Amino acid sequence: MAKVKTKWVCQNCGYETAKYIGKCPDCGAWGTLTEEVEVKNSQPLKSVVIDESPVCLINEIEITESIKLPTGFEELDRVLGGGLVQGSLVLLAGDPGIGKSTLVLQTAGNICAKGKKLLYVCAEESGSQVKLRAQRLNVNSDNLYVYSQTNLEAVITQINNIKPEILVIDSIQSIYTSNITSSSGSVSQIRECTNALMDMAKNKNITVIVIGHVTKEGNIAGPKVLEHMVDTVIYFEGDKYKSQRLLRSIKNRFGSTNEIGVFNMADSGLEEVTNPSELFMKERTDNATPGSVIIATNEGTRALLVEVQALVGATSYPSPRRVSTGVEFNRLLQIIAVLEKRIGINLSKHDVYVNVIGGIEIDEPAADLGIALAIATCFRDVVVDPDCVIIGEISLSGEIRNVSNLEKRIYEAQKLGFKKAIIPKLNKKLNGNFDIEIIQVPRLMNAISACCSKK
Ligand SMILES: Nc1ncnc2c1ncn2[C@@H]1O[C@H](COP(=O)(O)OP(=O)(O)OP(=O)(O)O)[C@@H](O)[C@H]1O
Ligand SMILES: [Mg+2]
Ligand SMILES: [Zn+2]
Repeated sequence: MAKVKTKWVCQNCGYETAKYIGKCPDCGAWGTLTEEVEVKNSQPLKSVVIDESPVCLINEIEITESIKLPTGFEELDRVLGGGLVQGSLVLLAGDPGIGKSTLVLQTAGNICAKGKKLLYVCAEESGSQVKLRAQRLNVNSDNLYVYSQTNLEAVITQINNIKPEILVIDSIQSIYTSNITSSSGSVSQIRECTNALMDMAKNKNITVIVIGHVTKEGNIAGPKVLEHMVDTVIYFEGDKYKSQRLLRSIKNRFGSTNEIGVFNMADSGLEEVTNPSELFMKERTDNATPGSVIIATNEGTRALLVEVQALVGATSYPSPRRVSTGVEFNRLLQIIAVLEKRIGINLSKHDVYVNVIGGIEIDEPAADLGIALAIATCFRDVVVDPDCVIIGEISLSGEIRNVSNLEKRIYEAQKLGFKKAIIPKLNKKLNGNFDIEIIQVPRLMNAISACCSKK
């Protein structure tokens, strides 16, 4: 007899409890616990464990170089840390309709063109829907198998038949295993299916790409619970109404997590953007505007030029508003505090909005000086020289601190035709020769006088 058990599972983080509670003690979310019925097949517990990997000394372990398979997209390879690692499980997460299936299908086409066998499990769409998309994206191969199926056991049977090297699951929320009775998309199902897929990746050396949906509230079992189980988590982001898409890795067991990949969504599918700075600069008008500044940020192995905009205006609220998009909120508050104390710009009766153009999120302090100048120029109605790039971290005392990869950032500015770079005062020589005017500033005050002028 199978034993029937019910439990309450937090759909946000996967916390389990026997009784209903309003607030999840693990993640603190309210009303996220739902009841799940679980019928475990009553198989006797295995008493003998076959031990295939013996204990050994670290000195005796031989390193086997992991094989990285290029995906045909350099932007994706960089985010993955050089390519798809054989036998790894990659989770590709993103908002509905952002282009996850498109990215994976195009990647599948690239991989199959190299003679690899790939099984694409479309649990959300019919085979003909996938075929239609493939036609539009010009994806065609004799190595690409499509299987419209939601049952994991059926998928595993086909894997044993076809023996693919790469498996795609689109999406994890819509497949289920018959081992448990919870509905597909529930935390238990997602966890159980991912475990089985992870097992298959490691034991059969199949590379698995899993697509996952995220919701803003996170109240549907999102890929959040999966993040600690899988090898790599990448997010596909972007504004649905704009064509630009960003790939960002959140976790990677095989590479750095601060790389980003940039794509452009066209009618014929996703196109790589190999020089994103150029793309971000394209929307810019030549005329300088108060509150607009170009900064050089560092994303993984490359520098990126992006525009930061600030809007400062008299407030009509009891306490002035501070709104930041693409910049960490507390960082913004700190920069405002330094501007007030060290420069004497009084913003206590002004709303401040800061926005990073292009959907980029800046989480490094090297953008401080640019953000400060954007706010200061908007407040004083002056402009920063449009040919000038701003780089530097601001300390609480108003000093400009040095930043990592300074030369790479200056080089990127020079490459894109900028004439001037405002950088921190260095106590060493710059590495390399630049044909661009470089102004070293010790303090925030000096930066303002070095590059700001009346309109
Ligand atoms: N016929 C078409 N012509 C041009 N672009 C299209 C066409 N159909 C879809 N697209 C683009 O592809 C996007 C949807 O891509 P895709 O289906 O890969 O997204 P997804 O993230 O897999 O979505 P879902 O969450 O529904 O699975 C649309 O937002 C649109 O920009
Ligand atoms: Mg899809
Ligand atoms: Zn929780």
